[in-house]
Amino acid sequence: MAVDSKALLAGVGTLYLAFKVLGLLRVLFDVYVRSGINLKKFGAGQGAWAVITGASDGIGKEFAQQLAQKGFNLLLVSRTASKLQTIAEELTAKHGIEVETYAMDFAKGDPEDYLKLATMMQELQIGVLVNNVGTNHDIPTAFVDESDKVIQDIIEVNINSALRMTKLVLPQMVGRRNGLILNLGSFSGLVAAPYLSVYSAGKAFLSTFSQALGHELEGTGVVVEHINTYFVVSSMSKIRRPTWLIPMPKPYVKSVLNKIGVSGGAAIPFGSTPYSGHALANWAIDNLFGIKFWVKQNLAIQKDIRRRALRKREREAAAKRD
Ligand SMILES: NC(=O)c1ccc[n+]([C@@H]2O[C@H](COP(=O)([O-])OP(=O)(O)OC[C@H]3O[C@@H](n4cnc5c(N)ncnc54)[C@H](OP(=O)(O)O)[C@@H]3O)[C@@H](O)[C@H]2O)c1
Repeated sequence: MAVDSKALLAGVGTLYLAFKVLGLLRVLFDVYVRSGINLKKFGAGQGAWAVITGASDGIGKEFAQQLAQKGFNLLLVSRTASKLQTIAEELTAKHGIEVETYAMDFAKGDPEDYLKLATMMQELQIGVLVNNVGTNHDIPTAFVDESDKVIQDIIEVNINSALRMTKLVLPQMVGRRNGLILNLGSFSGLVAAPYLSVYSAGKAFLSTFSQALGHELEGTGVVVEHINTYFVVSSMSKIRRPTWLIPMPKPYVKSVLNKIGVSGGAAIPFGSTPYSGHALANWAIDNLFGIKFWVKQNLAIQKDIRRRALRKREREAAAKRD
């Protein structure tokens, strides 16, 4: 019997389209309907602690506020002791929880700091670790021109801190067969960002690490999640006004904590893109035009940001001279 090639092509096309539409419907269902794992599973309101790196500003500070509201005690880490202290006092008074702080510069990668943190955490039941701390290139810069210090700082702050903090909390989590590790990822780990090469590659590292660790820990009671983040209003993003695609930290973190264990727009194992606008953007990247197209978009965006940043520097230098 002769096969009708047109009918065959139409059938394959329809199946392909149906597959894509089903994928998009699954994303919408995840983002708008499904609930995530209840944080009580990780000890919320039962004396457990959440450890947050980079907790004095932006997304990390918001994690501190929302995890306090859920009843976790907090260990907050970042460079500025005074900012940490203010947050600790505010959250202790507001939620009646315990808050400890530790001021350190992750860029130094000082073993003494990690030792002190290990000692502090020894007596605490750590239910949640949020590997949030991050730093970036000052402005988009070609790798050939980037300073060794910026490169080293990104590796220490964005990669090594997550590895070391995870290594510190994991034994007790595995021992108790309970825990949650959230790693703050970026779309620049999903689609390479030229001119932010080290930041972008560092976030890809975190993504792959989270996937590998997540598989290793399956069935141990410890949940690992790589949080795929597009832009959020913060001092790092240098974006001040929210849009439907760029939320404030508050709705962003709320979406993360409400969707633990739910993929949202993420297609990778142990990944989650929980915020609605980000989830749709993640779906579009994975399903439309191909990765080369999206890298080219990133290239154009970063070149434009660099042009504007250099102009701003020139203006500031001129103003200083006047
Ligand atoms: N905002 C976005 O659009 C966006 C997008 C994708 C991914 N992310 C990721 O989300 C995470 C948080 O970003 P954010 O936008 O909230 O950043 P942010 O507003 O710049 O806050 C960074 C936090 O980390 C602390 N910190 C910075 N460098 C540190 C260091 N060397 N040692 C110790 N603490 C340090 C800062 O406090 P101190 O200055 O007091 O130390 C602050 O609390 C990062 O991992 C970032 O890559 C953000």
